[in-house]
Amino acid sequence: MSSQDREQDAARPELGDEPASIAPPRREPRLPKGATAAVPDRAPARRGTQEMNFMDNVEQDRSQPFGLDIGTSRIVVARNVGRKDQFEAELNAFITLPYSELTEGLLVREEVFYEVAGSEFIVAGDDQQKFAEIFHVETRRPMVNGALNRAEPHSLGVIRRIIGKLVGKAGTPGQKVRFSVPAPLAETGKEAAYHHELLFKELLAELGYDAKPIDEGLAVVCGELGSSNYTGFGISFGSGLCNACLAVLSIPVMSFSVLKAGDYIDRQAATATGESATRLRVHKEQSFQLNGFTGDRVDNVLTVYYDDVILSLTDSLRAMLSSAQRPKMEQSIPLVIAGGTSMPKGFLDRFEKALRTSEFPLQLSEIRLSSDPLNSTARGALVAALSEQVHAKAVSA
Ligand SMILES: Nc1ncnc2c1ncn2[C@@H]1O[C@H](COP(=O)(O)OP(=O)(O)O)[C@@H](O)[C@H]1O
Ligand SMILES: [Mg+2]
Repeated sequence: MSSQDREQDAARPELGDEPASIAPPRREPRLPKGATAAVPDRAPARRGTQEMNFMDNVEQDRSQPFGLDIGTSRIVVARNVGRKDQFEAELNAFITLPYSELTEGLLVREEVFYEVAGSEFIVAGDDQQKFAEIFHVETRRPMVNGALNRAEPHSLGVIRRIIGKLVGKAGTPGQKVRFSVPAPLAETGKEAAYHHELLFKELLAELGYDAKPIDEGLAVVCGELGSSNYTGFGISFGSGLCNACLAVLSIPVMSFSVLKAGDYIDRQAATATGESATRLRVHKEQSFQLNGFTGDRVDNVLTVYYDDVILSLTDSLRAMLSSAQRPKMEQSIPLVIAGGTSMPKGFLDRFEKALRTSEFPLQLSEIRLSSDPLNSTARGALVAALSEQVHAKAVSA
């Protein structure tokens, strides 16, 4: 997948200054076909497994901190390379295919990211999309609603491989990474993802990283609200969950998640229309707009469930803010929206309307959409990881 560069925000970390210098990028050697391991540790491969393109992506100083957004449908890594933020993503999905030498020949020829598990091939990440279409097989997900999919025996192995593909092994022992974790569910106050934090900390530690979690909503604040001293609301409308956080000077004062998000829209609209959830997702991503009810039945159904998702979030926000812990804020604060589900044209309008149906408990200076909604969480995790390193250097100096 191609990388996306983005000029770094000039007003970046009040959380800490930029690291003094960033060493020139170093390219990792590309491995021959047939070489791989569970994660990219350059170990000799099991037969039929490979590590295609693992390191092609790594154009960076491999000791610098980075950010990782472990989302239900996409995993995104954000790095700072030459004063630019650079992003790479892989779909958090896979397919299995029955083993055959013919198929293997095809996978090798196409340089596909795959492994052999018993009598099956597992094709993971972005590559699975193409092969799901070619072979007419169902895409499977290692995660559901922000948590590991316990019903899926391959879940952990697949995530381990995708993360390994994206980040490789630590360039130096203890290289810092911040990874996103969901906030507790608003409805119940319970963890959205049990053991999530520990699991990914360990998985990244196996690769040599010093990994720390960051609340997903707080990551949006860190990624988007540097110019307002990391004070305000960050909301991520994702696929498995929506996460919201109110932070003051980068300290989270209220965080929650809700279960209604992008996958919920796909599932519900599929049931209502008789279309497949995958087809609706593609339509939603390619051409759908939130511009009220039209003559198109499918669009109308999608609009109903988009509204449902937006209201679930704004209702929870109000409920949380009317509880006793609400901070006393004298000045008005910004609210930023990010995440793939916020991308259709008209979303921001719809959200603003829902928020303004009754008086909002805090004064808002602006409500805006991230200019890069799919990378916002990873970018915030990167900002936090960089500032942590700067802080550690300052303390040890
Ligand atoms: N261009 C788009 N328009 C509408 N929806 C999109 C678009 N791109 C992605 N999505 C939807 O956004 C969700 C993924 O967003 P993301 O922020 O990556 O979530 P997560 O981090 O939970 O995986 C999915 O439900 C996907 O269908
Ligand atoms: Mg995400």
